[in-house]
Amino acid sequence: MSATYLITGGAGNLACQLTHLLAGPGVRLVLFDRADRPVADTAAGCIYVQGDLSQPADIQRIVAEQRPQIVLHLGSLLSGSCEADRQRAWQVNADGGFHVFEAAVAHGVRTLFFPSSLAAYGSPLPDPLPEDFPQWPTGLYGVTKVACERLGIYYHAKHGLDFRCLRLPAVISRFAPRGAASAYSSLAFVDGVQQGSYIFKVNPGTRVSTVYVKDALRAMVELVRAPADRLTRRVYNIHALALSAGEVAEAVRQRWPNADLRFEPDPQVAALIESWPARIVDDSARRDWHWQPSYDLPKLADDMIQELRP
Ligand SMILES: NC(=O)c1ccc[n+]([C@@H]2O[C@H](COP(=O)([O-])OP(=O)(O)OC[C@H]3O[C@@H](n4cnc5c(N)ncnc54)[C@H](O)[C@@H]3O)[C@@H](O)[C@H]2O)c1
Repeated sequence: MSATYLITGGAGNLACQLTHLLAGPGVRLVLFDRADRPVADTAAGCIYVQGDLSQPADIQRIVAEQRPQIVLHLGSLLSGSCEADRQRAWQVNADGGFHVFEAAVAHGVRTLFFPSSLAAYGSPLPDPLPEDFPQWPTGLYGVTKVACERLGIYYHAKHGLDFRCLRLPAVISRFAPRGAASAYSSLAFVDGVQQGSYIFKVNPGTRVSTVYVKDALRAMVELVRAPADRLTRRVYNIHALALSAGEVAEAVRQRWPNADLRFEPDPQVAALIESWPARIVDDSARRDWHWQPSYDLPKLADDMIQELRP
């Protein structure tokens, strides 16, 4: 499928791993990020351009020069950084999103993909969480996610942009950014194997909707490449596993018995995570483009350990 893809946040956890799925004959991959270098290996031949999402000129320039047909707008500050610097969070996530949409329509981008989050809903939430449950997020990160979801619907309706969006649950990944509140499942594997210990700040019974990174990335590619006439909506939920922190700890211990994993719950962190549902209804994704997770806990745990093993 030949095309030029521009990935904002191209140095990050999901973007780097995504390049390996997108790469192929006739595919050009352009990565845009503020960071000096990517956090992980990227596919051979990726073009890396440094720039700042909060600067409209940086976005206009990269889209005008590279002429992508498809933009994957992954660049973002995550939940902790958003609360730590609200002004910067708005500039990067909300204004930055607006700049990306504007550049996309100005330069004829066909498809714009955006990863939203469970954090776009707010709390309290029913469990399972229906697809169209009202979105009243209480964290600034979630507010900026809703802002970009709504901008996408606007640019689709008024400017014909093929906007496609996935609300991701917690993603288990060996490159998970440490600042994300939901990173504990990933860090139990990473620190358990590489440092020999990890302290969970949530309760063993804390259970949240989760997906393994390889399934999440495949879902992103499948949604981006799904035929337009199969889509009945612009924003889809996906869910894979209702995983408790205790089950994650057990899966690590079984495979890496020397890992010293302990629970010292922080009431604030635990309350935040426990406000998220364990199951999200994702019927539309399963029906429209046949979303189906392929990693259960034993399979993802084997894969994580295999990749992290020294
Ligand atoms: N990983 C998850 O569990 C998860 C869940 C839901 C949604 N998401 C979304 O997926 C996307 C990617 O997440 P990730 O896990 O790869 O996070 P990440 O932090 O690894 O990647 C985000 C990237 O954005 C870049 N960035 C930040 N500010 C920038 C700026 N001003 N200009 C240019 N680049 C900037 C960062 O340098 C980083 O490389 C984000 O939009 C995130 O909100 C992730």
